[in-house]
Amino acid sequence: MTTFKLNGREVTTTGPDDAPLLWVIRDEIGLKGTKFGCGIGQCGACTVHVDGKAVRSCLTPASRVAGKAVTTIEGLDPHGAHPVQMAWVEAQAPQCGYCQSGQIMQAAALLAANPHPTDTQIDQGMNGNLCRCMAYVRIKQAIQLASRGKAAARPAAKIRQGAAA
Ligand code: FES
Ligand code: FES
Repeated sequence: MTTFKLNGREVTTTGPDDAPLLWVIRDEIGLKGTKFGCGIGQCGACTVHVDGKAVRSCLTPASRVAGKAVTTIEGLDPHGAHPVQMAWVEAQAPQCGYCQSGQIMQAAALLAANPHPTDTQIDQGMNGNLCRCMAYVRIKQAIQLASRGKAAARPAAKIRQGAAA
């Protein structure tokens, strides 16, 4: 059993302590926004925040987050209106969408640590997040928009529509 905060709410796991955090989030708690891609830390689809830092939840044993604050895409903003999410909609970044929650979580952590990254810093910071649809150009544009605070505020319903596209 491991107790930690998930999106601001205290949760206690019932499975083995060495279960990957990704399994706990998806299968035990039922939040499906965080995706399984490779399972070996190479694609970034499973990215969540632990105490504000981007981590690969497929490689993180649940026991490692005991007492910590974990944030998934569902908890990034209660209304889905985090500046990075708004920029994602503005740039129309997603294609199939599978990688996108991991991309957004990685980008949000990047911008929290460095609000105005250079193009090179964006490339380096996002290097480990793969996109089979090759949406890299628009993902980068979205990060640049968020960095400049240029994404227009939109109603949450529209943001959710855009994110589902
Ligand atoms: S599923 Fe975790 S990095 Fe690919
Ligand atoms: S949008 Fe399809 S994998 Fe990235």
